[in-house]
Amino acid sequence: MTDTQEPRARRPLPAPPPGPFRRSFWRSPIRGPWLTSVLGLVLLGGVPVLFVTGLLSYAAYDPGLSPVNDTTPGKGWLGFFLFSWPTRPEWLYRVNQGLHVTLGLVLVPILAAKLWSVLPRLFEWPPLRSPAHALERLSLFLLVGGGVFEFATGIMNIQQWYVFPGSFYTLHFYGAWVFIAALAAHAAVKFPAVIRALRDRGLLRELRVSTARTRPEPPEASLLVSPAPAAPTISRRGALAFAGAGSLVLLALSVGQSVGGPLRRTALLAPHGQADGAGPGDFQVNVTMAQSGVRAAQTGASWRLTLNRAGPAASPVTLTRAQLLAMPQHTARLAINCVEGWSTGDQEWTGVRLRDLAKLAGAGQPASVLVESLQRGGAFGRVVLSAGQAADPGSLLALRVNGADLSPDHGYPARVIVPASPGVHNTKWVAAMTFGS
Ligand code: HEM
Repeated sequence: MTDTQEPRARRPLPAPPPGPFRRSFWRSPIRGPWLTSVLGLVLLGGVPVLFVTGLLSYAAYDPGLSPVNDTTPGKGWLGFFLFSWPTRPEWLYRVNQGLHVTLGLVLVPILAAKLWSVLPRLFEWPPLRSPAHALERLSLFLLVGGGVFEFATGIMNIQQWYVFPGSFYTLHFYGAWVFIAALAAHAAVKFPAVIRALRDRGLLRELRVSTARTRPEPPEASLLVSPAPAAPTISRRGALAFAGAGSLVLLALSVGQSVGGPLRRTALLAPHGQADGAGPGDFQVNVTMAQSGVRAAQTGASWRLTLNRAGPAASPVTLTRAQLLAMPQHTARLAINCVEGWSTGDQEWTGVRLRDLAKLAGAGQPASVLVESLQRGGAFGRVVLSAGQAADPGSLLALRVNGADLSPDHGYPARVIVPASPGVHNTKWVAAMTFGS
């Protein structure tokens, strides 16, 4: 087998330039269908979970309820799966996001290993040989590009490195569809090769092979197999263990941000993950009051909450904080769960039920409620909550947390807290609420 031959090529191809375009440049004896297939199967188990939890995360914003909530208004039928996000169980969004973000991190070493295993095929010469070959290259571009794009944008987002040429939500949402479509096509096309590779070498049999006994696969098995393999320095089992160990390290350093408790201290990779302080408001925030642009003067004695009811002949009700505190107070133990995967763990919130405020505004059982913050700009200064969210007895306009007034960073004078909703829908520094009829 030479540099200019493919295993099943009908005629020789032009000689590639020196370097990575020559198959003999790639010398690892463990590259081949077996390693690529095993890594592919791990990705096949994990990526669909990422995809489904990602779609659920989008559904949790209830984009069908109002354009105000919709981060991808042009999605058309790609939003076919949307449904009204429930409020119970209250850990639903926490588990969904924890799984999405943690699994995304854990799969990074597996994706890197898989890309390493197929590197020779990313350097093909000539780059385009025929319309069919061009189509194959395009599908691989969408697969590799889509995968790298989704993982990179997700990680940049959780590290709060917002350098996207547009909204993260839009890019990550459309990127996910491109990636999953390319992956489904790739997995379907490669499945026979996976079966063949595992049948030829056996999954468990190959895992028992030491470095000294590691042999290259036959060159005619695949273009990935080196025609000039070097002596083995690691077994296939060792390579998988190396990637798996990378995954375990990432798991150990990130999962604590979603699980909480003593594990929170171990979340060294999470910007918001680490331990809480001793004070009642000493738990994570994403946007501080200073970052939000809300000024102290707006939240002082002059602050008022305005309650509106949609429809004709509705006059607004205006309340001071003291008047809100004089209303029946309720307590709910709920966590703020961020789209970035971290959770504050349960905190004890006290305030007025949203459904009591709806009654006060004359709205009875509203179909929705538009919540507006003092925060101007930003994607979530306004959100619309559903009928179910407004009606849940745990949905509060919180005035206090853990026995103390809300701190400025937690949304003083008043903030929304709704069970199982994305953190950004728990609007801080609330100024007005409009209950839909
Ligand atoms: C993030 C997901 C994935 C990426 C980025 C990826 C990328 C690639 C690339 C670039 C190739 C080389 C081109 C080719 O042979 O067509 C390849 C080959 C292959 N992939 Fe994947 N892949 C992914 C997932 C999967 C999955 C889920 C499976 C299994 C179900 C799989 C199984 C294979 C097989 C069997 C080969 C052929 C190996 C050979 O040539 O002998 N891949 N992959």
